[in-house]
Amino acid sequence: MSNVIVSPSILSADFANLERDIKLVETNGADWIHVDVMDGHFVPNITIGVPVVKSLKKVTTLPLDVHLMIENPQQYVDAFANAGADILTFHYEAVPEDAILPLINKIKTLGAKVGISIKPKTKPESIEKYLPYVDMVLVMTVEPGFGGQSFMSDCADKIEVIRKNAPENLIIQVDGGINAETGKFCVDKGANSLVAGSYIYNSTDVNSAIKSLKI
Ligand code: DX5
Ligand code: ZN
Repeated sequence: MSNVIVSPSILSADFANLERDIKLVETNGADWIHVDVMDGHFVPNITIGVPVVKSLKKVTTLPLDVHLMIENPQQYVDAFANAGADILTFHYEAVPEDAILPLINKIKTLGAKVGISIKPKTKPESIEKYLPYVDMVLVMTVEPGFGGQSFMSDCADKIEVIRKNAPENLIIQVDGGINAETGKFCVDKGANSLVAGSYIYNSTDVNSAIKSLKI
């Protein structure tokens, strides 16, 4: 059994049929559901917010893996946790350095797992001191904001650096341009969770697509 956690991104699902599209991946081997929250400020795109997370919670038993691509996440984590987010990942670049540990502790207090994410231009050393306190690091392999972009392979080198300094049970997740080939590349470097949007949802065989990521 593979221990890769596959988290399909519903950014590539049909927003008019989210329940159907979540059930589709749930019945075909998905481990988590990746929910991309964008605010039009931290990234140029706007997607979904708290009320949608609350509704999704009612239609799936899988953990909701909520990726906050928003400014000032400190202001919103209570609402997302109350809505049912199981994992709350914020961006290192969106929070002043002195507010990062308090935010990590706040998310834990809310009962969610905590992830910290870095954009392609952010060095892995920037987050090294937070590794003992988080459950997950999310390494972006595209500029956040849109699905369907091409995988940036040099970003994946950061996985090795993080894995070398990480506590044993740290989850390293990768997001952006993931398919069977790029997913394997990342897992070989030490990742153990893969987010995939277009690869899974544009596939004609979702079961095989998800299986191909469980390397
Ligand atoms: C991008 C999002 C991703 C996106 C990935 O900002 O964080 O989760 O859905 O899409 P693909 O897998 O198509 O690159
Ligand atoms: Zn994402």
